[in-house]
Amino acid sequence: MSTKRAWIWTVAVLAAACSLTLCGCKKKQTEDTGKNYIGVAYYNQSDTFLNELLDCFRSQLKDIQGGDTETVVMVRDAAGSQRTQDDQVKELIDAGCDVLCVNLVDRADPSEIIDLARENEVPIIFFNREPVAEDLMQWDGLYYVGADAEQSGYMQGELAADMIQSNSQADGNRDGKIQYVVLEGEVGHQDAIIRTEAVVEALADREIELEKLSYQIANWNRAQAENRMEQLIGQYGNQIELILANNDDMALGALDAYEKLNYTEAAVPAIFGIDGTEAGLKAVVNARLAGTVYNDKEGQARAMAQIAMALLTGKGMEEVEFESERCVYLPYQKITAENAEDFLYQNQ
Ligand code: GAL
Ligand code: CA
Repeated sequence: MSTKRAWIWTVAVLAAACSLTLCGCKKKQTEDTGKNYIGVAYYNQSDTFLNELLDCFRSQLKDIQGGDTETVVMVRDAAGSQRTQDDQVKELIDAGCDVLCVNLVDRADPSEIIDLARENEVPIIFFNREPVAEDLMQWDGLYYVGADAEQSGYMQGELAADMIQSNSQADGNRDGKIQYVVLEGEVGHQDAIIRTEAVVEALADREIELEKLSYQIANWNRAQAENRMEQLIGQYGNQIELILANNDDMALGALDAYEKLNYTEAAVPAIFGIDGTEAGLKAVVNARLAGTVYNDKEGQARAMAQIAMALLTGKGMEEVEFESERCVYLPYQKITAENAEDFLYQNQ
């Protein structure tokens, strides 16, 4: 063999060996560098509550982990496509992630993700969009962190009942009934279906006579809610006495619609949200929203960080308060103008 050919062979063999080491892959690298990798996949980056929750998650992780370990969080946004999310989960596993946090796009369709995780032995903490129990039971490396949807809807109904019973103006046309509209989150989402049922149930339990004008889906989204509300105001005008939104962004969208149509503050009906996002809390402080229900993002983020660190280090899982073996549900809290500021500044 000529020296030149021998040289080419050597280079080729070295290159192959190198690529094999690389393929075998980041996992090895992460062990070597002493870093932990957590992959986060979420359904849509335009979601206000989830962006706030993920900010909390990053800071909770910093609090929980000791000084000597470094945890890198890799975040992927599925832009509303389950297909895209399935690919992203594969990519995160290939990139060497040791634990995944997954906010499913379609909560009824986690099977591809579960199969991938199980094959690669990478545990998953699902959050916010709750998989059905049978899916969660498919493998013991699966967890869920969220909140009790029914409680949030019921509390929203109690807040509205308090307002109606203490305010003689609430029944604008004095017909003994409250004419109301509901702005709903996504079709098929546990927090949309259950909140809508529970809020009406709470009002009925408090013996408030209701007349439903309309239920409109606005997918948790402020602009969509503004749009739906503009149509409803066009249709029902001053007949609307109460607006119940499945989340704060849609409550704020309803407010935007009244502002756009130049309604005076006094002419806008009572609007209630759920979440206690920064913008939602500010609107409650300024009495633009009548109330909201706090979706404990700090508590959810803490539980996710605790479980993730326990999975990474093998220590601390006994400190997590699980229900039904592998689920954590954080309680909601009612918010009115009286306590909204405490929530707004609690983490500053
Ligand atoms: C709900 C929250 C909504 C939205 C949704 C996304 O819990 O109230 O604002 O973030 O989750 O799944
Ligand atoms: Ca009325």
